[in-house]
Amino acid sequence: MLVASNRGPVSYDLREDGSLHARRGGGGLVSGLSAIGPDANAVWVCAALGDGDREAVRRAGGGRLPAEDTGGQQVRMLDIDADVFSDAYNGIANSVLWFVHHMLYQTPLEPVLDAEFRRQWASYQAYNRAFAEALAQEAAEGAVVVIQDYHLALAPRMLRRLRPDLRIGHFSHTPWAPPDYFRLLPDDIAAELLSGILGADHAAFLTRRWADAFVACCHAVLGPGIPSGETRIGVHGLGADADFLRKRSHEPDVDERMRALREEIGGEGRRTIVRVDRTELSKNIVRGLLAYRQLLDDHPEWRERVVHVAFAYPSRQDLAVYRDYTAEVRRVADEINAAYGTAGWTPVVLHVKDDFARSLAAYRLADVALVNPIRDGMNLVAKEIPVVSDEGCVLVLSREAGAYEELGEDAVVVNPYDIGGTAEALALALAMPAEERAERCKRLAAAATALSPAAWFLEQVEALGG
Ligand code: G6P
Repeated sequence: MLVASNRGPVSYDLREDGSLHARRGGGGLVSGLSAIGPDANAVWVCAALGDGDREAVRRAGGGRLPAEDTGGQQVRMLDIDADVFSDAYNGIANSVLWFVHHMLYQTPLEPVLDAEFRRQWASYQAYNRAFAEALAQEAAEGAVVVIQDYHLALAPRMLRRLRPDLRIGHFSHTPWAPPDYFRLLPDDIAAELLSGILGADHAAFLTRRWADAFVACCHAVLGPGIPSGETRIGVHGLGADADFLRKRSHEPDVDERMRALREEIGGEGRRTIVRVDRTELSKNIVRGLLAYRQLLDDHPEWRERVVHVAFAYPSRQDLAVYRDYTAEVRRVADEINAAYGTAGWTPVVLHVKDDFARSLAAYRLADVALVNPIRDGMNLVAKEIPVVSDEGCVLVLSREAGAYEELGEDAVVVNPYDIGGTAEALALALAMPAEERAERCKRLAAAATALSPAAWFLEQVEALGG
C-alpha cells in the first residue's frame, strides 16, 4: 500500500555542524496519516520541503528514510528540483489553490493569472508527474494508492495512465470551492484539476458539503466532457485520536508547560480563551483578536478575569502574504496588550514558536476554545481541545469549518466575519454554567472521536477494496 502527500511525517533541520535534526510535520493531514503507524506496512511518498530534507534524502541514497526518524513508518522522500518544487508548492498550491478552495481572494488580494502563473503551472504538472512516476515504480501489481490533497490533484490521472492495474484513491483535506468561485481559475486548468482527481477510483472529502461542491464543479466545468470511467465520491470525517491525545497530554513535559503557562496567565481563577493554529489567513486569527478586544469593551467585567491564549505557529513563510499576516497577528495582539494590559494582567498571551507539548498544555487549561476559520476543511483543533481539556471547555466554532457538521449542535456557533457576534459568543461561552459546559463538552468529545485517524484511513483503503 502506498500513501502520497506533499508533507510527510518528518521534516529535517540542517544544523551548522552538519547534523540533521528530525521533527514531526505539522497540520491536520500529517496528524491524521501519522496514526496509520508502521504496522499498516504502507510506504509513504512525500516531497523534500527544504535543505534539511534534501540532505536527508541524499544521505538515504534516495531510498527510505531512517526508521528512527519516522516512528518506524516507511517513508520515501522525493527530492524534486528546488525551483519546480517552489513553483508547485509556493506558487500554485499555496498561492492559488489554497486561496480558491478557502475563497480567500477579496479585493485587494486577487489571483494573478499571467505568464508567470502559466510557467508555475508547468512546474505543478512536473511535480505531480514526479509523484506519479515514483508511485508507479514503487507499487506492486494491483496495489492500493491513496493520494492526498490539493498539491496532488493531477497525480491520480497521471498514475492511472502509467499503471491501469492500480486501485487509486484521492483525499482532499481542504474545503472545495463552489463552482462560481472555482471558475475564477482558467477554464483549461479548472478542467485539468477536476479530471486529474477523476482519474482516481475513489475521490474523498472531509464533509458532505465539500464533496457536493466538487461534484457541482465537475458538472459546471466539465459538463458532458466528464471523462469516462467511474469515480465514486466518499465522505470520511477524520476525527481526533483520543487514545494518543489523552496519553500524550499527561506526560511530564506537558505538565511542565502547564505550570509555565499558568504563571504567564497569572491571577487566581482567571479564565482562558484558547486558540491554536498555523498562522494562515483562513484561520481568521486577527478577527478573533478583534472579537476579544470587543468583548473587553462591551463586557468590562471580564477585564483582569480572562486571558486570550493564542498560539499562532508560522507557516509557509516563503510567501509574503503569509509573512504579512503573521506580522499583523503580532501587531494586533501587541495593540490589545498595550491598550488594556495592567501591571498584573496581560490580556493576550501570544506564542509563535511551534511547541506541541505547550499546545497540549493550553488544550488542558482551556475554558473556552476559539475556532473561527473563514473556511476550513475540518479543523482538528476543534476536535482535539474538547477531548483534552481538564475541566471541560466551551467550543466557539465557525459554521464554515468542516467540524461544524459534526460538532455544531453542542458548540456556540459563529459567522467568522462577524466580529461583534463572535464577541457575544465569547461572552456567552465564558458565562455558561459549569454543568452545561461539562455536558456539552462530553458530547463534543464523543462526536470528535467518532472516527479515529486509523479508522478514517482504513475507510479510504476499504473503499478501494483493499
Ligand atoms: C493543511 C493542508 C495540508 C498541509 C497542512 C500544513 O492541512 O491540507 O496538506 O500539509 O495544511 O501546511 P503546509 O503547507 O505547512 O504543509
